[in-house]
Amino acid sequence: MTTSFPSDRLTPQELRSYKNRRSIAALTCYDYPTARLLDEVGVPLLLVGDSLGMVVLGYPDTTEVTLAEMIHHTRAVARARTRALIVADLPKDTYNEASQAIQSARALLQAGADAVKLEGGRSRAVAIQALAGAGIPFMGHLGMLPQSIKEEGRYRIKGRTDAERRAILADAHFLEEQGAFAIVLELVVADLAAEIRRALKIPTIGIGSGEDCDGQILVLHDLIGLYPWFRPRFAHPLADVAAEIKNAARAFMQGVQSVYERLHQ
Ligand code: KIV
Repeated sequence: MTTSFPSDRLTPQELRSYKNRRSIAALTCYDYPTARLLDEVGVPLLLVGDSLGMVVLGYPDTTEVTLAEMIHHTRAVARARTRALIVADLPKDTYNEASQAIQSARALLQAGADAVKLEGGRSRAVAIQALAGAGIPFMGHLGMLPQSIKEEGRYRIKGRTDAERRAILADAHFLEEQGAFAIVLELVVADLAAEIRRALKIPTIGIGSGEDCDGQILVLHDLIGLYPWFRPRFAHPLADVAAEIKNAARAFMQGVQSVYERLHQ
């Protein structure tokens, strides 16, 4: 499977080699202009996350996102021909079996992703080993797994009990052994995230998992204040794009109204 990304694009291997050398500040991205903007400031990894479903498509969670939707948005991001590595999420129920995982991942690579991300560790061994066997670069995702929100009932911090800690650590080792080039740690208790970072040779990229990770990732909308109706506690917006949009729309409406009044009254 070949994709036509620029030759100077960061590769999964290069990102992996950031471990103990460089920090990784990754963001989600779902469209062409945003991909260009984030690339222009040097964001090294753009994740076409299935958070797409919540912050762009208006679903209540990520569980309804389809492969077709992920392909559509991955294509848009890939058209920006970024230097950033593009990783696309395998949506829920598209990697339940080995052949399905390979087919879904190949569809995302064909759409322009360089790698895929999937949720889970040893419980996803079939899919993980299939991707590894097919030579498809993949990133892991441990801790709170949004695709399991219906079973979980709520988003909660993971790793508070000894059993949970041992399971997450074992999953992290498993992903590394299988060839993951990085692992997202979502809502993992901070000292466990730090322990995992120290234990692994591949980078850990945290979200709501404390400072001691090799990198951090955020849903772009949480960083720029573009989804004001829900903001995770760990996210601290550095812009208020929602207010900017409203201000611009109000100013536009006022302008149209004044012209109308001048011409018609
Ligand atoms: O879909 C997504 O945005 C993600 C991030 C939370 C890491 O998986």
